[in-house]
Amino acid sequence: MSTSLDGARPAFLLFRVVQDGDRGAVRAFLDRLSPSTVEKRYLQRSLRLTGPAGDREVNRLVGRHEPRRVVVLALDGTDVRGIGEFFDESLGRADLGLVVEDGYQGRGIGRALLRRLEKLALNRGIRAFTGDMAYGNVGAAGLLRGAGRPLQTRVGSGGVQFTLVLQA
Ligand SMILES: CC(C)(COP(=O)(O)OP(=O)(O)OC[C@H]1O[C@@H](n2cnc3c(N)ncnc32)[C@H](O)[C@@H]1OP(=O)(O)O)[C@@H](O)C(=O)NCCC(=O)NCCS
Repeated sequence: MSTSLDGARPAFLLFRVVQDGDRGAVRAFLDRLSPSTVEKRYLQRSLRLTGPAGDREVNRLVGRHEPRRVVVLALDGTDVRGIGEFFDESLGRADLGLVVEDGYQGRGIGRALLRRLEKLALNRGIRAFTGDMAYGNVGAAGLLRGAGRPLQTRVGSGGVQFTLVLQA
């Protein structure tokens, strides 16, 4: 799966499901994320993905073979530029998570990852993505709103809960 991204550098990224050998590249990607991007993705203010928390996150993404979790990487050569994932929670719903490296945000990588995840999810019979985002996360809100699918949002105590309908 190769994709050309308008105006982006690099011009071609490969999108594929994570593999065992990706551990080092995923670790390096997590190390490069700014605290603000980490907070937006994980909704935890003081989380740092260096050290043991980063090791645990690499294990969650790469190490454990959890059949209900699908993790897709956006690869620029051997470097990871973005990670999208969903966790099949059954009853046709899956929890969605996306993160793109700071210097590569706003270049279409998040949208391309979401499209891959939608396809994989629909193939598994998943009919909606759900998740949480922080108040004022304009990037995530714009990405979901622009997906061309019905989007429901509900303001909760810790942020905004969303449901992106893939198939009615
Ligand atoms: C949210 C995120 C995954 C989007 O990925 P991205 O590669 O930056 O987004 P894209 O370039 O594909 O943009 C897709 C759409 O998102 C919106 N968007 C992205 N960045 C934006 C920004 N800074 N301001 C406003 N809208 C933005 C736009 O609507 C854009 O569509 P358009 O280019 O047609 O206008 C990425 O910004 C990110 O990693 N953010 C931090 C982590 C996070 O918030 N994760 C989501 C919670 S699960």
